[in-house]
Amino acid sequence: MPAIIVLGAQWGDEGKGKATDLLGPQIDYCVRYQGGNNAGHTIVVNGEKFATHLLPSGVLTPGCIPVIANGVVVDARVLLEEIDGLAARGVDTSTVVLSANAHLITSYHTTIDKVTERFLGKNNIGTTGRGIGPTYADKINRVGIRVADVFDEKILAQKVEAALEQKNHLLVKVYNRRAIKVEEILEEIGQYAERLKPMVADTSLLLNRALDDHRTVLFEGAQATMLDVDHGTYPFVTSSNPLAGGVGAGAGIGPTRIDRVIGVVKAYTTRVGSGPFPTELLDDDGDRLRVIGAEYGTTTGRNRRCGWYDAVIARYAARLNGLTEFFLTKLDILGSWERIPVCVAYEIDGVRHEEMPMTQSDYHHAKPVYEFFEGWNTDISKCRTFEELPRNAQTYVRALEEMSGAPFWGVGVGPGREESIVLRDGA
Ligand code: GDP
Ligand code: IMO
Ligand code: MG
Repeated sequence: MPAIIVLGAQWGDEGKGKATDLLGPQIDYCVRYQGGNNAGHTIVVNGEKFATHLLPSGVLTPGCIPVIANGVVVDARVLLEEIDGLAARGVDTSTVVLSANAHLITSYHTTIDKVTERFLGKNNIGTTGRGIGPTYADKINRVGIRVADVFDEKILAQKVEAALEQKNHLLVKVYNRRAIKVEEILEEIGQYAERLKPMVADTSLLLNRALDDHRTVLFEGAQATMLDVDHGTYPFVTSSNPLAGGVGAGAGIGPTRIDRVIGVVKAYTTRVGSGPFPTELLDDDGDRLRVIGAEYGTTTGRNRRCGWYDAVIARYAARLNGLTEFFLTKLDILGSWERIPVCVAYEIDGVRHEEMPMTQSDYHHAKPVYEFFEGWNTDISKCRTFEELPRNAQTYVRALEEMSGAPFWGVGVGPGREESIVLRDGA
């Protein structure tokens, strides 16, 4: 199984890091293909907690080569801090590879991200403030700075000057902020050049050659299907394509090379930031899910909004990504509910919808139609086989599988690497 994609099937924070880590021992290369340090993946190895933001989770697997491909937007300061932080804890970071074509997040991108959000007021997106949207906007506007530019002083100066000419108009005239000087940015970028240089490579060539050599390559999505800029809850989305289709452009890999696409899905749903969320719970159950599930952002520390499992979303993710399987996480968190609702369809203006509605205006009116399942009132974190799960938990898992549109490959019953139940070999 040489090429595997692991991606989020809901609104992020499904436990992609854990699912990637579980596959770790089989993986030769672990690749990020989109997003930036808006991501936060928590992985617990032998009781020790690690968080990755820009590096793919595979960095924690000895022998696995971590690759940041062209589709990622890179804040060099954050990358080097992350590398240093992991190295200080004994993680081998010497093999990190960075695409020459990845775009750089600079301080003017983070500034614009924050002031734009402030300007939007109550209509804000609730971004992570990491400069992600403005950096992708520059990429599409063809005024971005790429990693390779850092090593050509003349070109870099020209590009920064061109970018700032536009930005300073915006910052000064619209947002009433001070203008940013070209020299400031050149100095900011220049200080990272020496350390970045040895990591830089043509990552598309590297990965295609690895696949030719029958190496196993795992593409780790950041964010998730419902945050995809094309297919998510636009405009309350991130600015990239976390979908499986994003791997093609984001890593320079042809679609025919992909063998397995795993959607990671929580046994309930969470969302950070603004935007519609039909199964959201604004009551005690929502608070209980947050507390028991420790649903606080890995990157920004914000409270995650919590709600019940939504099978309409799962089916949508299965379809958009061509999922070969799902990995269900955090089943253990539901251990203390008497009755667990699952959203099987939406009601929109009196009409039942089994699939995502076509328009966002409709989606804002979607009301969940629930089916109810008996709880199991037991701690299941010690279970290691499906048969060891209480009968009601088995019924819940099988029912979700039936309504979600792809087979379940495994179930998470705790944050640790070993706290998992594998239901079948990879498809
Ligand atoms: P990611 O961004 O998709 O990688 O997910 P995050 O790391 O942001 O959030 C998922 C959280 O759930 C992390 O704290 C994980 O350690 C934790 N987690 C993952 N799988 C499980 C599971 O099966 N059970 C429990 N209790 N926690 C889990
Ligand atoms: P991982 O990889 C959850 C959300 C933000 C905001 C929207 C746009 O850990 O699952 P951005 O900063 O990307 O422009 O913000 O997307 N968001 C995430 N939510 N998990 C993430 O990453 C997220 N990355 C961005 O909260 O609503
Ligand atoms: Mg996360």
